[in-house]
Amino acid sequence: MPLAAMASASSSSSRPRWSRSILAAALLCCIAALVSSAAGAGGLGPISTNGRNYTKVCDAARFVALGLDMSRFRYCDASLPYAARVSDLVGRLQLEEKVRNLGDQAEGAPRVGLPPYKWWGEALHGVSDVGPGGTWFGGAVPGATSFPLVLNSAAAFNESLWRAVGAAVSTEIRAMYNLGHAELTYWSPNINVVRDPRWGRASETPGEDPFLVGRYAVNFVRGMQDVGRYGYGGDPFSRPIKVSSCCKHFAAYDVDAWFKADRLTFDARVEERDMVETFERPFQTCIRDGDASCVMCSYNRINGVPACADARLLSETVRAQWQLHGYIVSDCDSVRVMVRDAKWLNYTGVEAAAAAMKAGLDLDCGMFWEGARDFFTTYGVDAVRQGKIKEADVDNALGNTYLTLMRLGFFDGMPEYESLGAGDVCTDEHKELAADAARQGMVLLKNDARRLPLDPNRINSVSLVGLLQHINATDVMLGDYRGQPCRVVTPYNAIRKVVNATYVHACDGGGAACDTAKIADATIVIAGLNMSVERESNDREDLLLPWNQTGWINAVAAASPTPIVLVIMSAGGVDVSFAHNNTKIGAILWAGYPGEEGGTAIADVLFGKHNPGGRLPLTWFKNEYVSQIPMTSMALRPDAANGYPGRTYKFYAGPAVLYPFGHGLSYTTYSYASRTTGAAVTIPIAAWEHCKMLTYNESAGAPSPPPACPALDVAGHRCDEAVSFTLTVRNTGGAGGDHVVPVYTAPPAEVGDAPLKQLVAFRRVFVPAGAAAEVPVTLNVCQAFGIVEETAYTVVPSGASKVIVGDDALALSFAVTINLRM
Ligand SMILES: *[C@@H]1O[C@H](CO)[C@@H](O)[C@H](O)[C@H]1NC(C)=O
Ligand SMILES: *[C@@H]1O[C@H](CO)[C@@H](O)[C@H](O)[C@H]1NC(C)=O
Ligand SMILES: *[C@@H]1O[C@H](CO)[C@@H](O)[C@H](O)[C@H]1NC(C)=O
Ligand SMILES: *[C@@H]1O[C@H](CO)[C@@H](O)[C@H](O)[C@H]1NC(C)=O
Ligand SMILES: *[C@@H]1O[C@H](CO)[C@@H](O)[C@H](O)[C@H]1NC(C)=O
Ligand SMILES: *[C@@H]1O[C@H](CO)[C@@H](O)[C@H](O)[C@H]1NC(C)=O
Ligand SMILES: *[C@@H]1O[C@H](CO)[C@@H](O)[C@H](O)[C@H]1NC(C)=O
Ligand SMILES: *[C@@H]1O[C@H](CO)[C@@H](O)[C@H](O)[C@H]1NC(C)=O
Ligand SMILES: *[C@@H]1O[C@H](CO)[C@@H](O)[C@H](O)[C@H]1NC(C)=O
Repeated sequence: MPLAAMASASSSSSRPRWSRSILAAALLCCIAALVSSAAGAGGLGPISTNGRNYTKVCDAARFVALGLDMSRFRYCDASLPYAARVSDLVGRLQLEEKVRNLGDQAEGAPRVGLPPYKWWGEALHGVSDVGPGGTWFGGAVPGATSFPLVLNSAAAFNESLWRAVGAAVSTEIRAMYNLGHAELTYWSPNINVVRDPRWGRASETPGEDPFLVGRYAVNFVRGMQDVGRYGYGGDPFSRPIKVSSCCKHFAAYDVDAWFKADRLTFDARVEERDMVETFERPFQTCIRDGDASCVMCSYNRINGVPACADARLLSETVRAQWQLHGYIVSDCDSVRVMVRDAKWLNYTGVEAAAAAMKAGLDLDCGMFWEGARDFFTTYGVDAVRQGKIKEADVDNALGNTYLTLMRLGFFDGMPEYESLGAGDVCTDEHKELAADAARQGMVLLKNDARRLPLDPNRINSVSLVGLLQHINATDVMLGDYRGQPCRVVTPYNAIRKVVNATYVHACDGGGAACDTAKIADATIVIAGLNMSVERESNDREDLLLPWNQTGWINAVAAASPTPIVLVIMSAGGVDVSFAHNNTKIGAILWAGYPGEEGGTAIADVLFGKHNPGGRLPLTWFKNEYVSQIPMTSMALRPDAANGYPGRTYKFYAGPAVLYPFGHGLSYTTYSYASRTTGAAVTIPIAAWEHCKMLTYNESAGAPSPPPACPALDVAGHRCDEAVSFTLTVRNTGGAGGDHVVPVYTAPPAEVGDAPLKQLVAFRRVFVPAGAAAEVPVTLNVCQAFGIVEETAYTVVPSGASKVIVGDDALALSFAVTINLRM
């Protein structure tokens, strides 16, 4: 969403300040008033404050009120298959009516009983009122549970947590829908990988690893979409969904605004290998394994073609190859952006709208600038009349959107959710889940001489030092795409509950105000960033702490009689080398943007009520890294010609890492053991066409002669081989704890240009003090040992791959030798 829209979206008012919305709101209030008196007399279900006075479209009384007889409309015949009903509905519409339903503010068609629908919804980490959709707070629903930002939840490496959060969010949406406070379609999650540490939207995403991001996507989407009664089986085109979830932004989108580069005009130059291996992978997982009912295409161009007009990406890949059962929506205004900003092929509005629809775009989200509508609605009729698209293309797009609404029960209702109401929003259970998510995602980066946890029985006074926005973080913890939270528990509030004498030293005015820090038993500094530094439409230029925080943190540390504790609020990594080096800074905790219950989670970790188990979902680089590579370079691998060092833990092997991907300490210690010392897999190859050549690295012992079959093309293989082993995780310390077991593979050393290692599995387990947990791991050979070769085929290389379990000093590894037998 462009910046101007966000400025209004984040205002404190409970309604987004959109000029059109204000008009609409004024109109709707009057309709609601009318409806309210009508219903008072007759009674027709709940009275909606967003103008909706029905809970399902196919309600006979609703048709009567419109002067229609529902029995004459086959699209309301619940005995027919959805596809037949949707084609009946679309077939009744005239071209002009059809086109008025191709934008996010679909107007409906009263003539045939079809009501308007506001498609735009956001639920990144809780129900949000960002955008001119149908979600609003006030009245019966003053707020909704604001979970930690996605990067925090990702740091928990806990798949059931992500699913539980998705399920809680969708329950709150269903409750709000029943009350006329929400619609049923939400454009979350954001699953672009954080390719560059400067990216402003890191908070919204699950981090830098495509596998981790994909697993987050599957679980969040299934939490949002799965209806208990139906689970995940049955015909995917008619399986009911609780709330529609959307994987965005497809694809290769992760430059927002960096110096002169702007996402609206950015043309990402991407090699096919990086597309397959990194940029597309989370989307493939989200659609194939999560069955997300929506994909959003991005603003940027990829190798010259706007993502939202790229038939190969939308029609061939998303819809045909990955089998999307749902609709494709544009990021808001991206069709206009092709004409206005990218000036792509000098296209007119009609041409751009036609190109996007032909490429596979179903719904155009538009921003209503200066009273204009989205491009599909504005130019759709002309595009058909001028022969640039066929009316059948419009029908196809509407088929995809209305089928999604059918699955949501928009037409027929969804009995299991109809009793949900205001009492199901901001429940104690959801607030506790938000606190638990925040706790699970806390990452302990440094803990010299066991500075943490603090003992509440020995600490009688605490100095809390930092900027007020971090100490009293009513705003910063909620991050972007927030709604109205149920409440906010600030670090100050939560720490004060543990230690009565908590003194606040606000450093907003520079160093002087922090001097009193020396009087307390313990000094806790809370520092970091906020959305003026990292946000959508705002990438960072460096990785340092802004606003002179480094200066006064060092001064406070020097003045404190005991080593201080530093808590960092940020999404992207911050170069806190100064703190890592400083012996007067005993511990560093990354708290991210932990949501409305964040203060509780921070206090629980600092005072030992919770033993931290989170891991960094992205590399924390030292600041020197960003001078080595421009943000606009999309390649993941090192680029010798330009001197670029490579990106993410998979390809960067240089010295500019402060804390690696997967780093995270605990208050206890663990040891690993496994009986497995290695494995061998022989795969008989049926025919030569399943073999691919590989690039070998001469200096790493390229095999000579090369093997008869260097690598197996997984596309033509059944892929049922697996490698299994069991890991014993022993808690050798004094505190029970959650421990994340990451499993990586590394391809044979002689394979050139390969990832250093790649995450292929992970599991979070609780291990009581002194006890052990058995973690069984099964790795599918194609999925776990597959790599993407130069020409973008996914292949399993022959030779000795490695399995690496764990990070840091704990890592244990063994070889898996893969023999491809001709
Ligand atoms: C429901 O609202 C619509 C306007 O949005 C109105 O035309 C219709 O009469 C209302 N129906 C009832 C039964 O109140
Ligand atoms: C994972 O998250 C779920 C849901 O919040 C929680 O019940 C479970 O304890 C977590 N697992 C571990 C090992 O922390
Ligand atoms: C677009 O139009 C401008 C001005 O007429 C022209 O200079 C330019 O070459 C055109 N670009 C393309 C891609 O056709
Ligand atoms: C911090 O917030 C608390 C209430 O949560 C308030 O009492 C206190 O005055 C605030 N501190 C400052 C310095 O504004
Ligand atoms: C806080 O201080 C008051 C007054 O000294 C005392 O009554 C109370 O028990 C203290 N609370 C905690 C949590 O220590
Ligand atoms: C930064 O902090 C140091 C140490 O407290 C102080 O001496 C200096 O004046 C501060 N600079 C600014 C620009 O606030
Ligand atoms: C971020 O913090 C800076 C420095 O205190 C402040 O000027 C700015 O307004 C803050 N921005 C937001 C979005 O809170
Ligand atoms: C931290 O210590 C390392 C190693 O001694 C040194 O290279 C680096 O310059 C130090 N960084 C800071 C910010 O003090
Ligand atoms: C080739 O192998 C050498 C030695 O292991 C290593 O230093 C180098 O980075 C490798 N090059 C590539 C392109 O993988």
